[in-house]
Amino acid sequence: MPVITTIDDLRRLHKRRTPKMFYDYAESGSWTEQTFRENTSDFDQIRLRQRVAVDMSGRTTASQMIGQDVAMPVALAPVGLTGMQHADGEIKAAKAAEKFGVPFTLSTMSICSIEDVAEHTKEPFWFQLYVMQDEEFVDNIIARAKNAGCSALVLTLDLQILGQRHKDLKNGLTAPPKLTLPTMLNLATKWRWGMGMLQTKRRQFGNIVGHAKGVGDASSLSSWTAEQFDLRLDWDKIAKLKEKWGGKLILKGILDPEDAKKAVEVGADAIIVSNHGGRQLDGALSAIRMLPSIVAAVGDQVEVHMDSGIRSGQDVLKALALGAKGTYIGRAYIYGLGAMGQEGVTKALDVIHKELDTTMALCGRRDVKTLDREVLLVPEDFEGRWA
Ligand SMILES: Cc1cc2nc3c(=O)[nH]c(=O)nc-3n(C[C@H](O)[C@H](O)[C@H](O)COP(=O)(O)O)c2cc1C
Repeated sequence: MPVITTIDDLRRLHKRRTPKMFYDYAESGSWTEQTFRENTSDFDQIRLRQRVAVDMSGRTTASQMIGQDVAMPVALAPVGLTGMQHADGEIKAAKAAEKFGVPFTLSTMSICSIEDVAEHTKEPFWFQLYVMQDEEFVDNIIARAKNAGCSALVLTLDLQILGQRHKDLKNGLTAPPKLTLPTMLNLATKWRWGMGMLQTKRRQFGNIVGHAKGVGDASSLSSWTAEQFDLRLDWDKIAKLKEKWGGKLILKGILDPEDAKKAVEVGADAIIVSNHGGRQLDGALSAIRMLPSIVAAVGDQVEVHMDSGIRSGQDVLKALALGAKGTYIGRAYIYGLGAMGQEGVTKALDVIHKELDTTMALCGRRDVKTLDREVLLVPEDFEGRWA
């Protein structure tokens, strides 16, 4: 077993152990992948201020997200097809998150269903909703999330149509995989993955199959999205969904100060500054670059969270110092899951926690809640001058 010390170690193991189709699905952005690349490289432009001779005993990374206690302000982002990266992936990731004391968000496009995850966990998790044209389906899935005790609805706003990811088309991405010759040859080398999949019954979109009417082919993500997602989703509909849900609402995919202000008007509890990990609008600025102007636009009127590009505890610290109250990791935990199942997700959380804690100490802080701009060295033109 290799010694794992970084998120990138987990990524390499994920690549070795998981079918190419699913590794590629995780490790890609849309079109030229410019935004996908810049999400991570922009974090590197921000540097840290080393401070010394500061008492660093009694440190804490504990905080709150939407009023919920968290061991560190890092939630697991909703990721579709997680149960294809590893058998029963959503259940395993949710259990790892629960043990660690951080929130888990279940995607609409998960393999394990809302009920499956609820059955295998004790703590409430968050449910991410993609709004479909079929209102009955939407009403029904909101009711299912309520029945399962989900403590927040994460409404994703940046995917009414799918940003094209070339590799998914070239690989013929489906869940479960269609057994073409190249796929079979690749699967033959992934025995660990195959054994897991043979032992589980969860191999389709668990929230959808058997719940949505008139679905042509739910196995293909791209065709199903094109057929079913609601192109007419707007702020009025968001307000109505908020009422239907009646609980904590997090709006995901905000990348512009004007939209952040709209989210305040509609009464969201939190927003996630996000470009979907560079998977949607290629050419958009990285989320970390957009974060300061969004924080400035909304102040304390709504809790600001962010994701897209976080691969280390240092990245988490930078986002918090620029004003985010919470962060999310997507790929960073998916690498762990694909590499080593539940243990790998725990490893990813451990790596990030240790990095966050040590970095905070070396910046002269003991409490994650006190992190502010003072711990950073940010290039003067970091946000850029765009006309
Ligand atoms: C493979 C994959 C699938 C995703 N599926 C969903 C999804 O079903 N719903 C959603 O709201 N976001 C989805 N996202 C976006 C993530 O929630 C999150 O915004 C993104 O992964 C953050 O970027 P990071 O991977 O660089 O941390 C997905 C991301 C990845 C990588």
